[in-house]
Amino acid sequence: MSDFDPIAYKKMVQTYQKNDNPLGWFDSIYTDAEGDYKSVFWADLAPNPYLVSWLKTHQEVQGRKRAIVVGCGVGDDAEALSAFGYDVIAFDISSEAIRLCKNRYPQSKVKYSVENLFDYPQKWRNNFDLVYECNTIQVLPDKYRIQARDAMVSFLDEDAFILVSCRSRNEGDQLDDIPLPLDKKEIDGFVKCQLKEKSFLAYNDDNSVPHFFATYQK
Ligand SMILES: C[S@@+](CC[C@H](N)C(=O)[O-])C[C@H]1O[C@@H](n2cnc3c(N)ncnc32)[C@H](O)[C@@H]1O
Repeated sequence: MSDFDPIAYKKMVQTYQKNDNPLGWFDSIYTDAEGDYKSVFWADLAPNPYLVSWLKTHQEVQGRKRAIVVGCGVGDDAEALSAFGYDVIAFDISSEAIRLCKNRYPQSKVKYSVENLFDYPQKWRNNFDLVYECNTIQVLPDKYRIQARDAMVSFLDEDAFILVSCRSRNEGDQLDDIPLPLDKKEIDGFVKCQLKEKSFLAYNDDNSVPHFFATYQK
């Protein structure tokens, strides 16, 4: 297992992005963990507290229970949704991420699946009451960010919710960052997809890194 080197990581991602192969590197992050989900550098190993707080305060919508987790990583958020009673599909483009989830949660009710957000099963269209996205758009470049947003929105059934958690930045700042946080204009793109903004929070995490947590309803 190699130590995480942020400079080498950034160079590696930039090379894939410059070669218009922006999805080609994700699996390597998980294979580098050599079977140990705790070694995945971006994994918090706990559900997002803003997701859990939303679930606690929106018990009234939980009669509707089909949820999908985009780019599920090592599974903490998918398991939280399952614990709140949702039927959860959690997918990731990395087969090794999905293998880690299945090994980590062998008794899980979550359906973990290797899928590409840009080529997903058509039965997923308009098929979910809740879509959860955490930190996937920000690891994608350029046009792929808009395509990712549109694919996520396409999962929503009537009246369904999408919850979006990400790093944030001021417009025009940090343009070379990897991951590239979302600015306000970009996250407002969800409203342009005919969704209603239900809540919007800008906050700094414990390491003073700015974030957004926003929720929308179709
Ligand atoms: C920064 S990680 C975040 C993982 C997890 N959501 C979390 O918060 O810990 C982004 C995840 O999105 C996945 N991903 C990126 N592009 C994807 C795509 N086109 N389809 C499915 N998953 C994708 C990556 O493999 C990775 O697991």
